[in-house]
Amino acid sequence: MPKLLIVIASTRPGRVGLPVGRWFEFQARAHGAFEVQVADLLELDLPFMDEPNHPRLAQYSHQHTKDWSAMVNAADAFVFVMPEYNYSFTAPLKNAIDFLHNEWQYKPVGFVSYGGVSGGTRAVQMVKQVVTTLKVMPLPEAVTIPFVAQFIDDEGDFAPNEMIEQSAKAMLDELVRVSGALAVLRGG
Ligand SMILES: Cc1cc2nc3c(=O)[nH]c(=O)nc-3n(C[C@H](O)[C@H](O)[C@H](O)COP(=O)(O)O)c2cc1C
Repeated sequence: MPKLLIVIASTRPGRVGLPVGRWFEFQARAHGAFEVQVADLLELDLPFMDEPNHPRLAQYSHQHTKDWSAMVNAADAFVFVMPEYNYSFTAPLKNAIDFLHNEWQYKPVGFVSYGGVSGGTRAVQMVKQVVTTLKVMPLPEAVTIPFVAQFIDDEGDFAPNEMIEQSAKAMLDELVRVSGALAVLRGG
């Protein structure tokens, strides 16, 4: 079974990223096509990029980089659960991307984005420019959540509408297809 790594890209106290991430993890497990793992960037707690060598060389000097490298390397596909901050994606996400190089290559990424009226779409457009440099293939199918606060219930859980549920399934279906096709380029 291909492995899906869900990256939760916000780290602030009270973040919506955690309930949205938990919901998407549930959707991905229920979908059934992937073995699912979650990388919560708050828990991962990477420092600002502190490796002396270019990541392309994979000569990592810190255990936190080796652990992150193993996690990303093991994945066949990614989903970034990400808010929009100042019309862009979060600094922790950029930092986590920059730490590695080969581990990302020839794998697809889907986006679960949220925010105000934009539903995080400006952040997604910006992160696409970064990930394609690393040969990560972004999917057009996406889960876009405008005015995310309206979907947080009294327990603090994410309770989406049917359209959002359907978009998650459509994105996961496409992620399976593209991850299978790209496996050829990864020698898999
Ligand atoms: C620093 C910061 C900048 C933000 N900038 C935007 C923005 O540009 N567009 C938007 O739609 N929402 C913006 N928001 C609102 C966030 O989408 C909203 O607070 C969301 O819950 C943030 O995700 P998080 O709770 O996972 O941190 C911003 C929030 C923060 C904290």
